[in-house]
Amino acid sequence: MKFFIDTANLDQIREAQDLGVLDGVTTNPSLMAKEGITGRNNILKHYVDICNIVDGDVSAEVIATDFKGMIKEGEELAELHPQIVVKVPMIKEGVKAIKYFTDHGIRTNCTLVFSAGQALLAAKAGATYVSPFIGRLDDISTDGLELIADIRLIYDNYGFETQILAASIRHTMHVINCAKIGADVMTGPLSSIEGLLKHPLTDSGLKQFLEDYKKGN
Ligand code: E4P
Repeated sequence: MKFFIDTANLDQIREAQDLGVLDGVTTNPSLMAKEGITGRNNILKHYVDICNIVDGDVSAEVIATDFKGMIKEGEELAELHPQIVVKVPMIKEGVKAIKYFTDHGIRTNCTLVFSAGQALLAAKAGATYVSPFIGRLDDISTDGLELIADIRLIYDNYGFETQILAASIRHTMHVINCAKIGADVMTGPLSSIEGLLKHPLTDSGLKQFLEDYKKGN
């Protein structure tokens, strides 16, 4: 399972990279705005800064919602760095754009996916990644994990190579359950990755080991 961090915060990206388990980064316009990154040139530069920190794929989202606009923006984003994956929303023009990018060797991440049907379309168009937003489904009392399981079943039935990128991860149990279902990738905040470290028996066990060592040395 690949671990992506879902942020545009360079310090957090560095911290996750330093842990040695990071495989990539996802961003979106809201995450960029949260870091105060505005203006096309600053946004493009920020993507390059992220690529220079991580060894792995970095999703960069198009803003246009029409086919031509998405192609223009996506090609510009893909040119920035070989690690860039163009993030395209699951709308009609987006499906056409994903097919175009696939045919032209540009990798894509189909975002804002909330149903198995949308995931099937993304795979048919050749998306590299599909991003079902499980936390946002949970927020409206719909089981996000059930969607991951449905997509896994459908992709396995037909051997689709599109990778399931479980997105909108909120906590460690999302990560663990996505791993049990077989999501290819998860993207979440640093806390969802670091949370995997924690267990009180590890802390008390280590404390005891160190105390016992001190007694004999
Ligand atoms: C995915 O690529 C999105 O950036 C993200 O996971 C959305 O998460 P949120 O629902 O926590 O905003």
